[in-house]
Amino acid sequence: MNSPSPTVLATDPWRGIPTLEDLPEPKGKRVLLRADFNVPLAEVRLENGEVKRVVEDDFRIRAALPTIQWLLDAGAMVTICSHLGRPKGKPNPALTMEPIAQVLDRLVPGVMLMENLRFDPGEEANDASFVKKLVSGQDLYVNDAFGSCHRAHASVVGPPSFLPSAAGRLLEKEIRNFSRLLNDPRRPFVAILGGAKVSDKIGLIKSLLERVDALIIGGAMAFTFMAATGHGIGDSIVERDRLDEVSELLNYSKKIVLPVDFVALEPGGKVGGHGEQGSGSVANFESDIPPGWRGLDIGDRSVELFSQHLDGAASVFWNGPMGLFEDERFSSGTKRVGEAVARCSGFTVVGGGDTVHALDQFDLSSRIGFVSSGGGASLELLEYGDLPGLAALRRSMEAS
Ligand code: 3PG
Ligand code: MG
Repeated sequence: MNSPSPTVLATDPWRGIPTLEDLPEPKGKRVLLRADFNVPLAEVRLENGEVKRVVEDDFRIRAALPTIQWLLDAGAMVTICSHLGRPKGKPNPALTMEPIAQVLDRLVPGVMLMENLRFDPGEEANDASFVKKLVSGQDLYVNDAFGSCHRAHASVVGPPSFLPSAAGRLLEKEIRNFSRLLNDPRRPFVAILGGAKVSDKIGLIKSLLERVDALIIGGAMAFTFMAATGHGIGDSIVERDRLDEVSELLNYSKKIVLPVDFVALEPGGKVGGHGEQGSGSVANFESDIPPGWRGLDIGDRSVELFSQHLDGAASVFWNGPMGLFEDERFSSGTKRVGEAVARCSGFTVVGGGDTVHALDQFDLSSRIGFVSSGGGASLELLEYGDLPGLAALRRSMEAS
């Protein structure tokens, strides 16, 4: 590999971004607020047999409250817009904003909520006429949708060209915290990546290797690394077409820390979780997993190895569970790595829906320095040092 990664400059993504205080007097003005209310929904069956969708986790809704309250206190009329799920440009009753409107109305009455932006194909296409429709009748634009700022979609990048614009409080807090990791982080800086796929994280891994002192890999994507180093991985998830790239990464950098043991499920065993009962016996294997067995969590020795890195860390970023934590038999790795992050006396940042969900499940959230409301957005911010939604706000400041 000649050039393992683009040169990573010390960047401050917060530079040049207007805040609420930079807006023209909001009293009596109509404000379009882009929030990220893409929240998990749960289905409940009513007595009459009807299925109703309700908000399962209101973290992202509550996270937008300081901005909404600030605007209301300033005398503005607030219209909020967001996407929900991936309806692909067509109305879909299962993805209406109605369940969110109900929660919002309880938390902060007196604001309007538009229907799901992605019911219109113009949102994802960043169509100029859809942008015009969004800003029509509005006086100001506020972006508080950190979790969506990596999407160059109409509601994220369009309005700043037409309206005086600013970042909301949540976006401000997110960027300030990530700046601490991007801009001269305190060292050692340790990142932990988990989750299923390595293929969509190759660029991120290269970029992180330039910034961190140790990069810990867990979760299903660890098996592609184990396979690349010639270990037996049984029937574990693997991306065979990525073995060469992963070998190159391992040759290029000695900063990658891999698991040294795994918890696996016997051939024919079933995974549990989400109300399903699992079956089959479970065993621990050091480095090599026998044929037919599926690795579904990291083992105790791996937890100890990872904890050693985390105990001495001055900055930590964690995204992605270490195993299939929904099934209790494979939850120990994620729980114990979470505990090690919580114990760490350095500055700790955790992002991503699954990982934040795990923190909640193991009651660790309050012991984390900063819990991000963004998943993909936080990963892209760390990879590139900037996001399309931030660049759009900066242009608005330059224009005014
Ligand atoms: C998220 O939840 O990651 C954001 O809301 C973005 O959603 P998307 O991945 O469907 O664009
Ligand atoms: Mg996403």
